[in-house]
Amino acid sequence: MTRIAVVTGGTRGIGEAISLKLKEKGRHVIANYGGNDEAARAFSSRTGIDVRKWDVGDHQACLDACAEIEAQFGPIDILVNNAGITRDATIMKMTFEQWDEVIRIDLTGCFNMAKACFPNMRTRSWGRIVNVGSVNGQGGQIGQVNYAAAKSGIHGFTKSLAMEGARVGVTANAIAPGYIATEMLSTIPDNVMEKIVEQIPVGRMGQPEEIARGVEFLTSDNASFITGSTLSINGGQHMY
Ligand code: CAA
Repeated sequence: MTRIAVVTGGTRGIGEAISLKLKEKGRHVIANYGGNDEAARAFSSRTGIDVRKWDVGDHQACLDACAEIEAQFGPIDILVNNAGITRDATIMKMTFEQWDEVIRIDLTGCFNMAKACFPNMRTRSWGRIVNVGSVNGQGGQIGQVNYAAAKSGIHGFTKSLAMEGARVGVTANAIAPGYIATEMLSTIPDNVMEKIVEQIPVGRMGQPEEIARGVEFLTSDNASFITGSTLSINGGQHMY
């Protein structure tokens, strides 16, 4: 049986690697994206993976998109809540809009998608939900009160969802990536990036593939007894 997997933010960065890894393992992957049509088209023609555009921060859009996917391909078995943005600024400079946009997409987006997928997973007694948190949700970061709040919110969200799914065959886990070499890091000033890399015990940034392998494991049948956990993939940062 081919499992249906939806990866939000699944056409670029870490999400691209996750989509590819799940496809490689025989899943039917639908990769969501929010804005960059050109990147999504290129990704789809390069990989053959279906892409769908909607805003994960829009509750109704998530319900509609998932209903459409289920009508076309069948019930969604695997949900990877990967979509996320940064709007970094110290609290002195951060605007309400920068706060609100990050919470809406990074945190409320996970609720919106789980709300759309969980009921059918529960009915069929099988489901895998993986939410992508962050080392900065575990430890905080200068310039990220919005992002760190959203990402640490994801960790609490995951544990509660895991409790609700535990008796009905639905697992929910989080992955907390460290600094991964993607476009998301491009806004970090070089001198700050140097300081960050110095704090990573393995002495380098991670690669998207290194996160994708973790997601693949947590969404597989092999991870049936793992729920409510956080897998930190960060080169040894925050070993506490
Ligand atoms: N680590 C150490 N020092 C930091 C720092 C960090 N992460 N961020 C800022 N600083 C330091 C700066 O070096 C600077 O120190 P000095 O005055 O001694 O030079 C001081 O804090 C003030 O910073 P800026 O001068 O840069 O102030 P700014 O207002 O121009 O910019 C900022 C502030 C937007 C926070 C900018 O510093 C920045 O982008 N920092 C990086 C934030 C960050 O790590 N974002 C992670 C994005 S990737 C991601 O989020 C993915 C994930 O899950 C890990």
